[in-house]
Amino acid sequence: MRPWGGLTVAQFQRSSKLKRGKTAVIVGAQWGDEGKGKIVDVLTRTFSVVARYAGGHNAGHTVIIEGKKFILQLVPGGILRPTCINVIGNGVVFDPLAFLKEVSTLRAGGVKVDNNLFISNRAQVILPYHRMMELGSENAPGRVKIGTTSRGIGPAYEDKMGRRGLRVADLLDTELMRTHIENACREKNMIAHALFNSDPLDADKMLKEYSEAATQIAPFVCDTALLLNKSLREGKSIVFEGAQGTMLDIDHGTYPFVTSSSATSGGAVTGTGIAPTAIDTVIGITKAYCTRVGGGPFPTEALDEQGEQLRKRGNEFGAVTGRPRRTGWLDLPLLRYAGMINGISWLVVTKMDVLDHLAEIPVCVAYKINGKTTEEIPAQACGYEKIESVYRKMPGWATSTQGITTVEGLPRPAREYLAFVEKETGARVGMVSTGPDRDQTILVPEFVSKLGLSTK
Ligand code: IMP
Repeated sequence: MRPWGGLTVAQFQRSSKLKRGKTAVIVGAQWGDEGKGKIVDVLTRTFSVVARYAGGHNAGHTVIIEGKKFILQLVPGGILRPTCINVIGNGVVFDPLAFLKEVSTLRAGGVKVDNNLFISNRAQVILPYHRMMELGSENAPGRVKIGTTSRGIGPAYEDKMGRRGLRVADLLDTELMRTHIENACREKNMIAHALFNSDPLDADKMLKEYSEAATQIAPFVCDTALLLNKSLREGKSIVFEGAQGTMLDIDHGTYPFVTSSSATSGGAVTGTGIAPTAIDTVIGITKAYCTRVGGGPFPTEALDEQGEQLRKRGNEFGAVTGRPRRTGWLDLPLLRYAGMINGISWLVVTKMDVLDHLAEIPVCVAYKINGKTTEEIPAQACGYEKIESVYRKMPGWATSTQGITTVEGLPRPAREYLAFVEKETGARVGMVSTGPDRDQTILVPEFVSKLGLSTK
């Protein structure tokens, strides 16, 4: 078959008549939960395709539109704009049952989910034995307790890299799926029983359930790398929607307290099939303070009354698991690191209004290890224990910024806070969030013009 109006792929790529669309990667600059959903929503006023490239239903993007709350786990944020095309890329680990549940909730909420949502035929499938293995290993004596979301994410990526995973295309191939599930169930049941004394899973029941799911999923499945490259060559603009955050990246995060995917901007390339040369802009999202869920290092954690206040004011409870998030202060060495790894040129600062009550705001400006200032981020989780965070106390504004929509409208100390972040990170602040709703947002004019965004 010759896609793209009779041209071969090679002819299409070479064709000079077509103008390539813009691309932007949205990446979490901290440990996830930075509020990426809201910036995706703003970009989709102009960008017409949104592609998820990593993670799975461990992510939870909360978007509030006209007071109505939507929690998206697998489905990209563009689904809330009827004209947007949404792609679940090959880098995602895909739970068919979680997906169907999410689609049915969206439909019940009046959201259109037809011909605007596509799943990569190369995405890996999460199956019940992945969850079984994860639960067993998280609770096993002597293992490092990561504090995962228990969605089977890690074991599914293990099977991918071990070249024994089931991909979405295989899920639609009944005979292949049968052989795969029978063999995998036998193997996983034996391992889980021997290591964790887990009860065995029933392969027949699993086959029936996943065959039914496969029938419902089939209309969404296609070669999304082809779809994305075609869209780009036709002049459509694409947002690559990151999940989790830089410090949860399998390579660059606080290993082993990380997720199992490439959450950083590089993952947008391998996780969708778009070439690195096609990435135009990387937008890093950071809260005005810092949070993390689960175990692992957190140099600026505030384990006091102020941390508790941040949790309450910021409603810092996991969107997926409901777990209270750990809270702390903005960490500039970490933001600089995120800037370097991802190539961040624009920052989006979210939850600015959560700091409204403070007379003074501590910000970590440097790390000292053994008394020496360092730009290097420790490679080992235990290395973080040696970090002494150096704080600068920034003046607070102690007045409400909720709902402010222009930089000029912010109190002077808030403007200075943002200018300080820009100076220390070398990235420009393009957008500030001053409340959970779509409209409680400051859009910096230069950001709007550089990205060619519509403000309506
Ligand atoms: P997993 O991704 O379920 O394997 O969990 C690994 C680590 O990443 C745990 O500390 C989780 O709490 C954390 N994590 C995974 N997804 C998210 C997210 O969307 N936001 C924040 N933390 C996450």
